[in-house]
Amino acid sequence: MQSKALFDQLRQKTPLVSVGVLSADLMSLGSDLELLERAGVELLHFDIMDGCFCPMMTVGPGFVKAVKTPLLKDVHLMIDEPLDKLEGYVAAGADMITVHVESCRHTHRVLQELGDATNANDSARGILRGVALNPGTPLETVLPLIDEVEMVFLLAVNPGWGGQKFIASTQRRRKQLKAMIAESGREILTGVDGGITRENIADVAAMGADIIVTGSAVFRGNTPLENARFMISAADDAAKGLGANKT
Ligand code: DX5
Ligand code: ZN
Repeated sequence: MQSKALFDQLRQKTPLVSVGVLSADLMSLGSDLELLERAGVELLHFDIMDGCFCPMMTVGPGFVKAVKTPLLKDVHLMIDEPLDKLEGYVAAGADMITVHVESCRHTHRVLQELGDATNANDSARGILRGVALNPGTPLETVLPLIDEVEMVFLLAVNPGWGGQKFIASTQRRRKQLKAMIAESGREILTGVDGGITRENIADVAAMGADIIVTGSAVFRGNTPLENARFMISAADDAAKGLGANKT
């Protein structure tokens, strides 16, 4: 696995908070990114929407490339048929690329392509490959792909917007997913994306999520430093079994 070094690097630091820039104030993004770095954030989450896979249209590879940051770029592709668009995101410096199983005919081929891709930031690093599942997609969809991924994300909202309410069934699905991964014998990071706030991040971390994506809750009140610090420490404490019952 080309991305073993990056995988091991992240694995040692879980739970990791990946901050979604979809809800950021673009007029102060540069200074906000420095605040996130100071808060200890390591992953920056880019929600790429094409207006087809989901109603919203957001940004493309040009934006991912233009964001100058030492944070790792966690690119979430909510686009139809990503196969011939991967190269653009690889060239833009993505460190992690996640595609939706619902978005492509040939998900296995997409993942194989990503497995051969070289990380534009550091050729020794490789690119972490992820698949994401919408709330209504059966978990078993991942099984045929399990040898070709390093991450599996569960959407806790129906994709398209930030600031939506966390879908409670995600908890149960994450438990089932963890069991499925354990049975496969593979080492795979699990992520939860959408609707994660100050109020529920401890529960999400306590259920064992390795990567926790949160956007609007970090930029709320225009205090990204304090919010990010809160999210990171709440997730760490919960993962250590403090503050919530470990499942
Ligand atoms: C939803 C996106 C999420 C979303 C997260 O389609 O994939 O990443 O932007 O934002 P919040 O944390 O505000 O739900
Ligand atoms: Zn996302």
